[in-house]
Amino acid sequence: MSRPVKILLQGVEKRYPASGGEEMTALQRLDLEIGVGEFVCLVGPSGCGKTTLINLMAGFEQPSAGTITIDGRPVTGPDPDHIMIFQDYGLYPWRTVLGNVLFALESRGIGKKEAQERAAGYLDMVGLSSFLRSFPHQLSGGMKQRVAIARALAVEPSVLFMDEPFAALDAFTRLRLQDEVLRLWGEKRPTMVFVTHDLDEAIYLGGRVILMAPDPGRVRKILSVHLPRPCDRTSDEFAAYRRELFEEFHLVHREAAGEAAYSI
Ligand SMILES: Nc1ncnc2c1ncn2[C@@H]1O[C@H](COP(=O)(O)OP(=O)(O)O)[C@@H](O)[C@H]1O
Ligand SMILES: [Mg+2]
Repeated sequence: MSRPVKILLQGVEKRYPASGGEEMTALQRLDLEIGVGEFVCLVGPSGCGKTTLINLMAGFEQPSAGTITIDGRPVTGPDPDHIMIFQDYGLYPWRTVLGNVLFALESRGIGKKEAQERAAGYLDMVGLSSFLRSFPHQLSGGMKQRVAIARALAVEPSVLFMDEPFAALDAFTRLRLQDEVLRLWGEKRPTMVFVTHDLDEAIYLGGRVILMAPDPGRVRKILSVHLPRPCDRTSDEFAAYRRELFEEFHLVHREAAGEAAYSI
């Protein structure tokens, strides 16, 4: 990889206790390098360890074996410079839109005046200037996720982890938010690790798409996507990447199901 390494995983394993005093292997000996400012997407069928992997990188869980470093330092717990965005937005329902972003900034020791300016600026970037005084329950799902994105970016983190952030949104909102995330990533260039089960979304967003397989969770294939971002989803080039990824995904499914065929 030409750019400097941001996140380095070496021999990472995660085992969980299972029934009958046994252990199950959620992730098996995983080696991976993610570059500074890279946009990586993790895809794979349910249960292949995507959430486990992103939680390990974010420091919410500790590996059973192996090491994870960010900027050369071992990950020992959550870091205020590394932000996670969840599918369910994680907003405080009792705070306004502005209040949600302000709280994130002030709790990181950013002064009131700067916090106000940054919060308003980032909410403007995601098109929510007219909703500063609204409460989360007054917003649509897409708007709530925009608040969560503005809040995460306002902190100006060096790494942004997103675990299926758009899974609960309708297709149209999803496409718009994909473009918004790409635009914001292009401006600030945080290192992005984005989990999705949508292969098209992964190709559209990621400079690399990491396809995982289950039982035990592992990396099955890494696809480098050489397309401009944003790219034309109707192009032949996009279709070629799609075909390559779907073919491999099809095999993963077939193996996981233990069946002769599985139709997508
Ligand atoms: N806290 C836990 N305790 C026991 N098993 C877990 C725990 N978290 C995840 N697992 C198991 O690890 C595997 C991977 O889960 P997960 O990382 O959530 O997959 P994904 O996000 O790809 O759907 C699954 O078999 C899941 O049941
Ligand atoms: Mg998951």
